[in-house]
Amino acid sequence: MSAPRRSAAWFAAPGKVGFVHRSKLYGEGFDAGLFDGRPVVGIANSWSELNPCNAHLRRVADAVRRGITEAGGAALEFPTMSLGETLMRPTAMLFRNLMAMEVEETLRANPLDGVVLLAGCDKTTPAMVMGAASVGLPTVLVTGGPALTGEFRGEAVGSGTHVWRFSEEVRAGRMSPAEFRAAESCLARGNGHCNTMGTASTMACLTETMGLQLPGSATAPAVDAARLHIAAEAGRRAVAMVREGRGIGELLTRESLENAVRMNAALGGSTNAVVHLLAIAGRANVPLDLDDIDRLSRDIPLLVDLLPSGRQFMADLHAAGGVPAVVRELGDLLHRDRPTVDGRRLGDIADAAIPGRAGVVRPRHDPLQPAGSGVAVVRGSLAPDGAVVKQSAATPGLLRHRGRALVFDSIEDYDAHIDDPELDVDETTVLVVRYAGPRGYPGMPEIGNLSLPRRLLQQGVTDMVRISDARMSGTSYGTVVLHVAPEAAVGGPLAFVRTGDEIELDVPARRLDLLVDPSELTRRRAAWRAPEPAADRGWSRLYADHVRQADTGADLDFLVGRSGAGVPRRSL
Ligand code: FES
Repeated sequence: MSAPRRSAAWFAAPGKVGFVHRSKLYGEGFDAGLFDGRPVVGIANSWSELNPCNAHLRRVADAVRRGITEAGGAALEFPTMSLGETLMRPTAMLFRNLMAMEVEETLRANPLDGVVLLAGCDKTTPAMVMGAASVGLPTVLVTGGPALTGEFRGEAVGSGTHVWRFSEEVRAGRMSPAEFRAAESCLARGNGHCNTMGTASTMACLTETMGLQLPGSATAPAVDAARLHIAAEAGRRAVAMVREGRGIGELLTRESLENAVRMNAALGGSTNAVVHLLAIAGRANVPLDLDDIDRLSRDIPLLVDLLPSGRQFMADLHAAGGVPAVVRELGDLLHRDRPTVDGRRLGDIADAAIPGRAGVVRPRHDPLQPAGSGVAVVRGSLAPDGAVVKQSAATPGLLRHRGRALVFDSIEDYDAHIDDPELDVDETTVLVVRYAGPRGYPGMPEIGNLSLPRRLLQQGVTDMVRISDARMSGTSYGTVVLHVAPEAAVGGPLAFVRTGDEIELDVPARRLDLLVDPSELTRRRAAWRAPEPAADRGWSRLYADHVRQADTGADLDFLVGRSGAGVPRRSL
């Protein structure tokens, strides 16, 4: 005899308890079918007009509901926080763990046997997966899909990447402010998340690789009817997974996380994926660290020709066959036997996929960039616990570089002074911004791709070494060292750098060193005073008090691990 469903603890409860649990739902218009023992599947919807990337998810939710009902389940949709990358200040990342906690608590507190997660914009996907991983219910993820490729002045343009590019063109005097303004409405042609290989696209592809999404779910454009077909199938599969008793823990394993790291390298994916994968691994109790990420990325070539490392867009990757096409090309570099929400194994899905457009996913023997061009982890006296560099988006000649530091204690300080014509800066200078880490800002904003000094842009300089304890958008590019740990705000060596110090970056040797005598550093450390806390109340205070460093995923210390899908005590 199979175990009673989790939802039965609510709906089949005796006496007044069951009465109360059922009666208000009758009032909402549900009938006895909701309470007859069928799988009750939640639809966790991060729809919001404050999050343009997820603004179409109500329509996607309708399709999920249809699928759940067709499969003999009952759907209960509920809203979650929504983290809109473009509008939220100081940074959506400050709220990733809050959203994860909200998802975790909502799933645990309610009569749900399984869940379909609807996410999209950058932080919504890892937040939902983290929360669901801590609970462990049968879970299917549906990301909202990328926006269609934009066009401006006859050129295909993409989210993020072209914003940074145009902004530098204006600063260099090669684009007028009016043209810049006109480009605003041309970057995307409708709903959906960023259409380049930014963080949202990266996390969508990595979660499909981990088996959490159905084939094609990561790449089908937001407005493509395929997205609704996928959503309905996600509903059907969630019901089946409840019946089979297959929780998300079956999918989030060491092997599937290794697959995600390797896929990230093949995609030219976002550095943000490093922080998110570490956090997801922490929730799932899977051992994964920065050294694993460096090691697993080393023998993977860049195969996918998408901005910012390549030239094309998410709609092109979908036409090329999406994630299954990349899985097929990676072959034995992945654990192909991993299960997926589809019911088939990762490798079987790839083998069965019909080949798509050529020229987007390159063959392993003719990659876009050779093995070892993915995210590298550097360590040394400036970053004892590590920092990351996206090699595929960097200037090869700067991956080994020694230069004088020019140091700023905040991004506001940087913005106020970087275009000063008297500033002592040239293309060999190493630009440093600090106190922008998880605790220091707080929230670790995406300011690491610092704008270059206007004077140098006008001279034709296109890249410089930039170092910070911040993050950068996955759509960004340049020789940018990020996530320096420990961060300056907790007394990491970054706090002791002074303008004029020499810094040496050697990515091939995986080193980042501050070339200052250790005795001098000891003196500076003794004189250093920790900054006043950046937050004194509410969530920001809780976050700053408990956030871990970037090298372990920047989750809150008390949220790591699982709470489980047990049934909480009765409420009345
Ligand atoms: Fe939402 Fe880029 S702003 S995905």
